[in-house]
Amino acid sequence: MTNTAVLGVLASGRGSNLQSIIDAIDIGRIKAEIAVVISDKPEANALKRVAELGIPAVCVDRKLYDTKEEFEKALVEELEKHRVDLVILAGFMRILSSYFVNAFKNKIMNIHPSLLPAFPGAHAHRSVLEYGAKVSGCTIHFVDEGMDSGPIILQESVPVLDDDTEETLAARVLKVEHVLYPKAIALYLEDKLEINGRRVMIKE
Ligand code: GAR
Repeated sequence: MTNTAVLGVLASGRGSNLQSIIDAIDIGRIKAEIAVVISDKPEANALKRVAELGIPAVCVDRKLYDTKEEFEKALVEELEKHRVDLVILAGFMRILSSYFVNAFKNKIMNIHPSLLPAFPGAHAHRSVLEYGAKVSGCTIHFVDEGMDSGPIILQESVPVLDDDTEETLAARVLKVEHVLYPKAIALYLEDKLEINGRRVMIKE
């Protein structure tokens, strides 16, 4: 991608990964602009964060749609309206159907706070601690119809310590998330990612 790429970010909550992407754009590590931030929750802090920065912030409230299909149509409409090249899921806590996935085929990325395919779902850190895993981390992957199941782009590990709680483990993983997501986006925008079945090759 040679011109400035256009990102659309979907976030359900706090928006710290969104902030790391904004920061990476600001320092020129990601050559892109964020055209729109969309949340499925009106109270999402991510919306407040960007409203202050002048980035369009839109709520597509899931509760206002009878079906998942109508909800996703509204999301796609909003992303197309802003001519988005790449959709970034940053703490977006919904599984997308094949309709949405096909509307942006191989152009949707997600971040998940575990080493996939271990511990998918909404409570990764709790599951890691319950299972007794000694290592966790985060994963950036392309999105398919499954839950946290698309081709993996980047992963990085962190140790799980004996005295970890969900909160301390989440904080250790989050630090790595904030570095890894901008890195994966930059690689994509520099045309350095090649999807080959389930494997994503990083070209030099
Ligand atoms: C992040 O830890 C992200 O990896 C996780 O939600 C958090 C959102 O934080 N995502 C998932 O669990 C997806 N299954 P943020 O709103 O501060 O970026």
